[in-house]
Amino acid sequence: MQVTEKECPVITLDGPGGAGKGTVSLKVAETLGWHLLDSGALYRLVGLAAEHHGVALDNEASLGVLAQHLDVQFLADSAAGGVCVVLEGEDVTQTLRTERVGKLASLVAALPQVREALLMRQRAFCEPPGLVCDGRDMGTVVFPQAPLKIFLTASADERARRRFEQLREKGITASLSDLKNDIMERDARDMQRATAPLKPAEDALQLDTTCMSITEVVDLILAEASRRGLVS
Ligand code: C5P
Repeated sequence: MQVTEKECPVITLDGPGGAGKGTVSLKVAETLGWHLLDSGALYRLVGLAAEHHGVALDNEASLGVLAQHLDVQFLADSAAGGVCVVLEGEDVTQTLRTERVGKLASLVAALPQVREALLMRQRAFCEPPGLVCDGRDMGTVVFPQAPLKIFLTASADERARRRFEQLREKGITASLSDLKNDIMERDARDMQRATAPLKPAEDALQLDTTCMSITEVVDLILAEASRRGLVS
């Protein structure tokens, strides 16, 4: 069945790492009862699968094939923060969120064949009653017709601080300055790549969340969705 725009409105959230996209998307999707696409998880899965299969991170053709045939399941699991991710039969939910896998993701994400392979998989998440998706190119490439596009940013210092806190809550120690360097390196790679670089869509609403709480950001997006007639 072809899902029309009216049956499946899409809210896109793009922006650099640590801007709050993941948490905000989850809360907006939960409030609206819509589906959620964490597109970064797909790139992280390709990076991890490449590692498992010993595929070099510059072997674009093989990585494209790997991305096309990813054997992955997203299972509802309230204990794992909503979703349990299973790659080739193995629960990789925790591993996926590590900085190491984030770096692998940003390397494979620069390759056009990988992006092309993941395009249809991402669009397939669009099912009624609606979709909230987060990533780097949701509003520019994957869902360019989305009726509400948000671009979230925050200062690099604040984003590093948020990552630091997230890790600390999980009992993982990290260096704040290392995290900031990693974030800036990843931002530069995401913004400078030739295919689907990180940038706001022309019609995106840009929000600097440095001094905003999650609740403030979520409420603002919900109000905008309502103002645009996406929710009753
Ligand atoms: O959002 P997350 O940190 O999980 O993304 C990991 C990496 O995947 C990003 O740094 C980026 O390189 C890549 N990515 C992308 N396009 C997306 C989502 C993520 O290039 N739509």
